Amino acid sequence: MAKNEIKNIDYMEKEELIKQREPFIERVLIVDDDPMIRDYIKDLFNEFGYNVKTVANGKEAINTLSKEYYPVVVTDLFLPDIKGIQILDFIQEKGGHSVVLIITAYSSADSAIEALRHGAYDYITKPFSSQILLHRVTRAMEKVRMDSIAQSLASRIVYATEEERRRISRDIHDVIGQSLAIIKLTLKALKNKLPQTDDIMSEINGLSAHVEETMEEVSRISKELNPSWVVDVGFSKALRLYLETFSTKTGIQVSSALPDNLSFKDPQFDIHLYRITQEALTNIAKHSDATKIEISLEFRDSHVHFSISDNGKGFDESSDDRKRGLGLIGMRERATILGGRVSIKSFPGQGTTVKMEIPYGKQDS
Ligand SMILES: Nc1ncnc2c1ncn2[C@@H]1O[C@H](COP(=O)(O)OP(=O)(O)OP(=O)(O)O)[C@@H](O)[C@H]1O
Ligand SMILES: [Mg+2]
Repeated sequence: MAKNEIKNIDYMEKEELIKQREPFIERVLIVDDDPMIRDYIKDLFNEFGYNVKTVANGKEAINTLSKEYYPVVVTDLFLPDIKGIQILDFIQEKGGHSVVLIITAYSSADSAIEALRHGAYDYITKPFSSQILLHRVTRAMEKVRMDSIAQSLASRIVYATEEERRRISRDIHDVIGQSLAIIKLTLKALKNKLPQTDDIMSEINGLSAHVEETMEEVSRISKELNPSWVVDVGFSKALRLYLETFSTKTGIQVSSALPDNLSFKDPQFDIHLYRITQEALTNIAKHSDATKIEISLEFRDSHVHFSISDNGKGFDESSDDRKRGLGLIGMRERATILGGRVSIKSFPGQGTTVKMEIPYGKQDS
């Protein structure tokens, strides 16, 4: 962009603009091929307390973003080497954690729209004042700050939930499990002391079998609750065991295409994907009247693609019902913690598909 495309700021506004920002690591990456513009914007932002780095082209920008985190990136759409859109795609691939402001010529509204489709947060048309640029960057920075607060709260809630589940799992195992074991032993001892008549023995054997089944059920529930168990046995094994029980209990047919013995390098993946599946399946059992479920997981383009679809009655995503529960919110939070996203497609009468796309390097298998 040319220097005359930036008008001077009204310095009366400077104090106000500074006040609007809370302390935060405010690093901005500016991508522009004009050295005068780079220096001008750098000085301007430095004056407002931002930590600024400037680069001259798209490849340098991608190189910088692959090594360092910048909450806000300001880039022209037209760069000397690659297209600005490629920077956006690179950021999206990495999980979309930087907010991008696009600078575009007034005449190119279509390219601005294309940029928004590729994940740009906002765009500024030329010519613009330095005041506008500062306002937009301040707003973008605020968005990143609020997102990061929301993200850390969500992570803490999810972490607390897992800790609570671990505690409940231990209590179930230690208290109920032990009591049942004592009942089982007592029944065995009682069997020898009681008159050996057919009806008494049949009652005692029936009771023993019932205790045995309850012990198995308690052990299953305590495992399903315990995040360490999921990590220990690995995602695909834990999920297969869960699916078997789910299918037996609900009568819903489940077909799954999962890699064998899949266990992730990062145990968070095992736990969160397992919990997302549990919630999606519980929803299907509770709300869908489905008879079939298809689950698939594959690694493509350094992402985990995970999908769960049912042939049930579906739901209207815009209806208020959707907002009553916490399950869909929890799924989204867990996917966000892993740096990915969830999309839920459902239409009344046409089933529901929950899809996740989570950036991931190489899986351990
Ligand atoms: N597979 C599905 N088929 C049909 N409706 C669904 C399905 N999944 C979700 N829904 C609808 O979306 C709503 C919201 O789901 P969500 O999991 O957030 O809440 P919930 O299951 O009602 O409650 P919670 O999960 O907090 O126990 C459900 O109440 C239901 O109306
Ligand atoms: Mg639910």
